[in-house]
Amino acid sequence: MSVSKKVYLFANWKMYLDYDESNILANALAGASVNFAKKIKMVIFPSALSFYPVAQVLDDIGIASGAQNVHFEDRGGYTGENSAMMYKNAGAKFSLIGHSERRHLFGETNHEVHQKMETALSVGLTPILCVGETAKERKGNKAKDVVEIQLRAALDNLKWKPKDKLFIAYEPVWAIGTGNHCDPIEAEKMCVMIFKMASMLAKGLEVIILYGGSVNEGNIRDFLKQPDISGVLVGGASSKLDTWLQIVQNVC
Ligand code: PGA
Repeated sequence: MSVSKKVYLFANWKMYLDYDESNILANALAGASVNFAKKIKMVIFPSALSFYPVAQVLDDIGIASGAQNVHFEDRGGYTGENSAMMYKNAGAKFSLIGHSERRHLFGETNHEVHQKMETALSVGLTPILCVGETAKERKGNKAKDVVEIQLRAALDNLKWKPKDKLFIAYEPVWAIGTGNHCDPIEAEKMCVMIFKMASMLAKGLEVIILYGGSVNEGNIRDFLKQPDISGVLVGGASSKLDTWLQIVQNVC
């Protein structure tokens, strides 16, 4: 069974691959004679260290690259950080914003997520806003409330251009990197809510919802079957050539 709609396959390599490994994987992707069907839009998010060479290799084969995180200032005394403007200059087209690992491991607040959304848009990077609830919040029936707060804070008063697309990745925290993916029907329910809320908060924009959290070659189709899930943000399974190519093949 193939998936008929346009599909967004976004690969978050996190801190899984060192410089050499990132380049080897990018070159292997370039060399794999996969027919990246027109319906697939692929974006790779390499580490900051390997961003530039990887982006160049991928650009040659029509795959876009993005930042895993950006700082909200353009320049300054922010040791260890990289700005949206600097990523843009190095060839980035996209940026993840507010990934749950940034929020929960590095204490990124809703306010900072909003600042990063603003900066990404101001330099011309397309932000992928990541939202999602923890296991405790889900158990306490708070998933929708938490995600609504994240959406409202992030999308408040942003300056969009008429043709911009608003990408939102629904990534329940408890499903990320655990092998315990969200039930696709449950994910769809959250994605419908997110779609409605985002469409209201960013009137007139095309809103595209992705699911992320333990997506692999075995479950990808179950997510893409859902009417409101237009793509996936994949971590672990995107950092190995065989599983990533299998995912691509299962979508074609
Ligand atoms: P995972 O990560 O696919 O390894 O669960 C997804 C993500 O963090 O975006």
